[in-house]
Amino acid sequence: IPTHRIAVIPGDGIGTEVMPPAQRLLELAGHRFGFAFEWQNFDWSCEYYARTGAMMPADGIEQLAECDQILLGAVGFPGVPDHVSLWGLLIPIRRAFQQYINLRPIKLLPGIESPLRKVPAGGIDFQVVRENNEGEYSESGGRLYRGLPQEVAIQESIFTRFGVTRAMNYAINLAEQREGRLASATKSNGIIHTMPFWDEILRELGQEHPLLEISEYHIDALAALFVLDPGRFDVIVASNLFGDILTDLGAAIIGSIGIAPSANLNPEGEFPSMFEPVHGSAPDIAGRGKANPLGQVWAASMMLDHLGHSEAGAALVDTMGHVLLETDVRTPDLGGRATTEEVSDALAAAFATVTAEAVLR
Ligand code: NAD
Ligand code: IPM
Ligand code: MN
Repeated sequence: IPTHRIAVIPGDGIGTEVMPPAQRLLELAGHRFGFAFEWQNFDWSCEYYARTGAMMPADGIEQLAECDQILLGAVGFPGVPDHVSLWGLLIPIRRAFQQYINLRPIKLLPGIESPLRKVPAGGIDFQVVRENNEGEYSESGGRLYRGLPQEVAIQESIFTRFGVTRAMNYAINLAEQREGRLASATKSNGIIHTMPFWDEILRELGQEHPLLEISEYHIDALAALFVLDPGRFDVIVASNLFGDILTDLGAAIIGSIGIAPSANLNPEGEFPSMFEPVHGSAPDIAGRGKANPLGQVWAASMMLDHLGHSEAGAALVDTMGHVLLETDVRTPDLGGRATTEEVSDALAAAFATVTAEAVLR
C-alpha cells in the first residue's frame, strides 16, 4: 500500500497537544482508505532552542526534504523572542520549499453557530489565498541608533512580479473551479508603491479571464465586510500580512481560532508542502488539556487532499461536523467543557460511523 513519509513538528505549547489527535485520525483514515504513514518526528521548538541555540539543526531543511509532506503544530513561546523562533523555523520552511500559497478555508461547520448574528448554517464558505513567501514579511530594512532619541526602524516590503503573479494565478484558478468570484485585498489608497503594483498585476491577469468576476476591496473595508456580509465571498487573494490578519478574523467568524486550518502549498509538488492550524502555541492555555484539536485535524485533512486522498480528506471534515452536530463534546473555546483528549476520542468514534455511512451510500 502507498506509504507517505510525513515530517511531524509539534513545536511549542498546544502544538504538542493537538498533534496526537491529528495523527490518530490520519492513521484511522489510512486503515479505512488503504494507505499508511511513516512518521518522522522532529522536536524542533523553543525548548530545542534553549538546549542548542538554534530552532532547528543546520541541515534541518535537508532533513525535511527527505519527507513527502510536513505536519506542523505551532511555533513560538514566551522566553524566546517571536522573531527569533519564527524566522528560525516556520518562515525558513515556507521559503525553502517554495510554499508560496497559504490556502486557508473559512467555512462554517455544521453544528457551530457563528458569533455573528444572522449567519445561517453553512452561511460562510470561502477560501483565502495568502501570498506566503514575500511581501511585508521581509528581512530588508534595519534598526538604527538603538536606544537613542533618533532611533529608527525600517521595514521594506518586497513584492515581485513573479511572486505576485503566481499567487494570483493560483487564486484565479481556484475561483474558476468554484463560483467564479475573486476578491482582492488591497490598500492602494494608503500604500502607494506596492499596492498599486498589486492591483495592476491583477487587472492584467483579469483581462485573460473575462468570465471571472473580480472585485478590489481596501483591506480596512474588507475586514468590515467579514463581519457584515461574509456570505458574499468565494475566493480572496491577499498579500502575506493582509492574508494573515484576515484569516484570524475569518477563524473568529466561523466560531474559533482553534478550528481554522492552513495549507502552505508548493502547488507544483516539487517540494514538500506544510499543513498547520491557523492558530499559534496559545501559551495562555498550554498544558491544561483545553486546546481545540479541530484546526490541526482539519489541516491534516488538507494534507490528505494534497496527497490525492480526497475521499479520506472529506471523511475527516465530515467527522468533525458529525461530532459538532451530534454531540456536545467541544472544548471551552466553543463553549464546551471537553478536554482535547475527549474531543479526540469523540472524533475517533465518529470516524467509524461516518465512514460506515459513506460505504452504505
Ligand atoms: P494564538 O493563536 O496562539 O492564541 C490566540 C488566542 O487564541 C489565545 O487566547 C489562545 O488561547 C486561543 N487559541 C489558539 N488556539 C487555540 C486552540 N486550538 N484551542 C483553543 N484556544 C485557542 O496567538 P498568539 O497568542 O498571538 O501567539 C502565541 C504564540 O504562537 C506566539 O509565539 C506566536 O508568534 C505564535 N504563533 C505561531 C503560529 C504558527 O506556528 N503558525 C501562528 C500564530 C502564532
Ligand atoms: C500564521 C502565523 C505566522 C504568520 C507568524 C507566527 C509568523 O501568524 O501562520 O498565521 O504570520 O505567518
Ligand atoms: Mn497568523
